[in-house]
Amino acid sequence: DAPRRTTIAGFPLSYVSLGTLAVQNAALILVMHYSRIMPLVDNKRYYTSTAVFLNEVLKLSIALVIALYDTASNMGPGVSSSELVSTLATQVFSGDSWKLAIPAALYTFQNSLQYIAVSNLDAATFQVTYQLKILTTALFSVTMLKRSLTTKKWVSLVLLMVGVAVVQIPTGSSGDDPKKTTRDVSHAEMNKSVGLVAVTVACAISGLAGVYFEKVLKDSTQVTLWVRNVQLSFYSLFPALFLGVIIKDGAAISHDGFFTGYNWVVWTAITFQAVGGLLVALVVNYADNIAKNFATSISIIISFVVSVWIFDFSITINFLLGMVIVLYATYLYSSPDRRPSSMPSNPTAE
Ligand code: C5P
Repeated sequence: DAPRRTTIAGFPLSYVSLGTLAVQNAALILVMHYSRIMPLVDNKRYYTSTAVFLNEVLKLSIALVIALYDTASNMGPGVSSSELVSTLATQVFSGDSWKLAIPAALYTFQNSLQYIAVSNLDAATFQVTYQLKILTTALFSVTMLKRSLTTKKWVSLVLLMVGVAVVQIPTGSSGDDPKKTTRDVSHAEMNKSVGLVAVTVACAISGLAGVYFEKVLKDSTQVTLWVRNVQLSFYSLFPALFLGVIIKDGAAISHDGFFTGYNWVVWTAITFQAVGGLLVALVVNYADNIAKNFATSISIIISFVVSVWIFDFSITINFLLGMVIVLYATYLYSSPDRRPSSMPSNPTAE
């Protein structure tokens, strides 16, 4: 049996996956938002249902390749490809595989809502409001996973929410900024209330789906993470295809074509989202859903810093203050609880 790899270049996999997720999340939101407001391709905007569907196809392909590789190395040399495929198929479709249909449907709905939200809110507002999922996730973790959080962890969760809210407080001085003109033109098509409703519902679903996936993952140790990902993406294909591509946009897509409005920006958004989904799964496996949300909070800071370089965004005192609070909350949450000083702390065993 190969030992389970929990470090990369000496760093615990939990930290590596969290750091990567923070960077990925910042990049995803910026690219996804731009893909909705960029100049039209051949006078057409792409249909988000096609992007949600392709995201699942891509995730399924990546998870399948890794699961096949995993199964092959467990079965040892000399195994035929038909044996390999049938072993994997048995793992994917047997036992409690159906349980993944629930988070699959929830995530597909959440991914569609996320597109509605980023189409109607600017990237920063979306990202900050989306942090409400920190609270929904904590509440579902406590109720569904029977996890109890120490007072220190609750305090850090509240601090995190405060920090995120402080970043959001508008400052009076930026109102007449002439640099904002190009952004305002694209804002004309946005409907803030629609965006806010979409993001709020997405937060509730995020907490529920994330915690449900974590429960399935950690309840049974026989099925590997990659087989779980194959199951999740497989079951997601059905709602993504039937409810999204066929029922919601079917008429328009059959007229315009599946790939109408596509360019490299759209493909980049889809790829970032697929990779992000798999990173989320790694983080949930090696740490947990609450830790995942801290990674995405840090990504807010990354996207603000990138915005300063690329979009001439000016740093305000609120931003700096909020950032310090978010970073302190993250430190507080992840610092080890009081233990006898002789015990070494183990960051992977949260
Ligand atoms: O915003 P939140 O962190 O809840 O988003 C989770 C994202 O990760 C969703 O887009 C979901 O489709 C994806 N995911 C995934 N595979 C998993 C768990 C989550 O693709 N195993």
